Amino acid sequence: MGKNNISLRGKSILGLEYLSEDEMNLVLDTAKEMKNIINRDIKKVPALRGKSIINLFYEPSTRTRTSFELAGKYLGADVVNITASTSSIVKGESLRDTLLTVEAMGVDAIVMRHKAEGAAEYADKVVSPAIINAGDGAHAHPSQGLLNMFTIKEHKNKIKGLKVAILGDILHSRVARSDIWGLRKMGAEVHIAGPKTLLPRFIENEKGIFVHDRIEDAVENADVINVLRIQLERQKTGLFPSPREYARIFGLNKERLSRAKDDVLVLHPGPMNRGLEISPDVAYCNHSAIQEQVQNGVAIRMALLTLVLMGGKSLEIND
Ligand code: CP
Repeated sequence: MGKNNISLRGKSILGLEYLSEDEMNLVLDTAKEMKNIINRDIKKVPALRGKSIINLFYEPSTRTRTSFELAGKYLGADVVNITASTSSIVKGESLRDTLLTVEAMGVDAIVMRHKAEGAAEYADKVVSPAIINAGDGAHAHPSQGLLNMFTIKEHKNKIKGLKVAILGDILHSRVARSDIWGLRKMGAEVHIAGPKTLLPRFIENEKGIFVHDRIEDAVENADVINVLRIQLERQKTGLFPSPREYARIFGLNKERLSRAKDDVLVLHPGPMNRGLEISPDVAYCNHSAIQEQVQNGVAIRMALLTLVLMGGKSLEIND
């Protein structure tokens, strides 16, 4: 299929394992156009006028929820936020009933974050609006994976052939899984490192991934280092090794960073535990693109909403 025939219209975005390389490139190319809108004085365009989007968040979020909201509003859609703690979910309403209620209001897309892996796929089967997975347990966070690739491409002009190191709490990280799916399809060489207690068992046998015991080996000559948040709230028996040990043995600091390429790019999905998985001087050094990732998150979410709700052809972005 030629690139011009690729369309995500009406498609739910559940995980990068379900998107082809061409589809991911379509999102990245569209996000480039969207970034031009964000950088204008007047950011509003009518591309999604008359469309309605619900942000349905069962877990806390700053970046993802806010950027999906801004993305929808910049494109002229009506956006409503439902947060579990202030909705009828606290009265015991089930996910199914909540989804059916939202569908009955005539929404066009549901952006959903949930603690259960597979929740977005379940939603996609229960209701007809397009579902965009904004994070389901440790399974997937496709928009974060795409914004990470967009940021890499902006700096390196390519993804294929790059050495990308992903460090830390892989076990609980939906970002790591989306990164791994996306980066492998795009031809990057993916290296993983972290304590054994935070590496899922399947990873050792996964094709096309290099697993290291030592952070030093993963970052050696790396083009990109993606440091993951240690998800302290999901550690069932507390963090092992202890936070102090973790920072000493596995934290990304200046000395470890110096093993990577001179123009290495440092990413972190946020929110950061500064001083634990990443030292403050690395988080804010000139290799860090962490703030750019946040801005690129809005562009990627504008691209996803536009492609899912309108396709790619009828953008009225010059109005
Ligand atoms: N990266 C990310 O998902 O951040 P939030 O939890 O703040 O949305």
